[in-house]
Amino acid sequence: MNKLHKLSLAILLSLVFIVFLIGCKKETPTPETVAGLTPYVLQIPKSLPPMVIPASNPMTEEGVALGKQLFFDPILSGDNTMACANCHKQSFAFSDSTIQFSIGIDKLPGTRNAMPLVNLGYQKQFFWDGGAADLESQVIGPIQNPVEMHENLNNVLAELNAHPTYPALFKKVFGSDKIGTAMIMKAIAQYERTIISGNSKYDQVKAGTASFTPQEQRGMNWYVDMKKGDCAHCHVLGSTFSDFEYRNTGLDSLTVDKGRGRITLNPTDDGKFKTPSLRNIALTAPYMHDGRFKTLEECIQHYNVGFKYTANLDPNLDNIKKGRLNPADVQDIIAFLNTLTDTEFISNPKFKK
Ligand code: HEC
Ligand code: HEC
Repeated sequence: MNKLHKLSLAILLSLVFIVFLIGCKKETPTPETVAGLTPYVLQIPKSLPPMVIPASNPMTEEGVALGKQLFFDPILSGDNTMACANCHKQSFAFSDSTIQFSIGIDKLPGTRNAMPLVNLGYQKQFFWDGGAADLESQVIGPIQNPVEMHENLNNVLAELNAHPTYPALFKKVFGSDKIGTAMIMKAIAQYERTIISGNSKYDQVKAGTASFTPQEQRGMNWYVDMKKGDCAHCHVLGSTFSDFEYRNTGLDSLTVDKGRGRITLNPTDDGKFKTPSLRNIALTAPYMHDGRFKTLEECIQHYNVGFKYTANLDPNLDNIKKGRLNPADVQDIIAFLNTLTDTEFISNPKFKK
């Protein structure tokens, strides 16, 4: 066989292989969608962009309902006493009351402040350090975490598979006789994507149905003013109120928690944390990854005078003058931040058990 023949044979074989693959794909039923389920239609407020739903986990009414049931069910924890909802409470924008560190089933505290669960469908990575690459894989983190729900996945699966009602619910949503880990992840992620907040006073002012007080308006001006608050550089004004990038805000001279550096193993990421959204921020005290600040005033004074000139300090803070905000400016910014509270969101019966 000459070279040309060999080449055409190779091309022919590849084509046959591709046709074979396409053929296979057609015949494989997609386990994620089962005929007879109702597609879930997300209600996106005007202030937020459309949400991109992963093709591998299409949202259905039944899937969201199952995810919600699991979110509130202590069956996912080691001793069946603790649900996701124990640390993520709706009245606190799905953060954990006013405590600094949540207490897990073994009565041990963690080292990071529980995050609010708001508009998660717009984020790419999860946890303060972005250690979970998508919303689905985030779910197993707290179940297995020894200072949180401290449970073994095989136990959860055994309990769910032996449960009087769960097997039928899972079968309806995922078409499988046996409950698997991926199904738990998908169902909870579907529910999490419905937890959307976009009807705060800020949004109503944008829509022309409410107006700021003079103090709130001044606060917003300082928030965006690069020589004053300069908050909008990172907590971008409007929409999700963050660009979700990782930054070192100079909390410590010497890094205690490596944050993003723990994930990337790159020393230039040490002390960097995901920029959180500021929606509903008045409800989620205490603040920062380690809950060190009790009030919004303490947070703003950190940016005003408190931050340390550490190695990885964000350039936006490095370049800004300390003490640029006077006490009245700080109060103005707090007044503006209070307009990001969405009272309809925290009482919405859709998210409840
Ligand atoms: C014991 C308290 C506790 C329990 C129970 C708990 N969480 Fe959390 N959650 C936390 C803490 C603390 C963090 C921040 C962890 C970190 O960054 O290392 C967090 C972070 C998250 C995040 C990341 C949010 C973001 O913006 O990146 C999601 C999503 C989440 N939890 C969902 C869940 C789900 C789903 C469950 C149940 C399977 C659950 N949590 C159970 C305390 C808890
Ligand atoms: C350089 C980017 C940057 C700037 C500028 C910035 N922030 Fe932050 N902000 C962050 C990051 C990153 C965190 C998380 C830090 C951590 O936990 O270690 C954070 C955390 C916060 C928190 C706590 C959130 C929570 O859920 O615990 C508040 C409140 C806050 N910032 C308000 C402000 C205000 C108000 C301004 C303007 C005065 C401002 N930020 C300026 C990046 C920034």
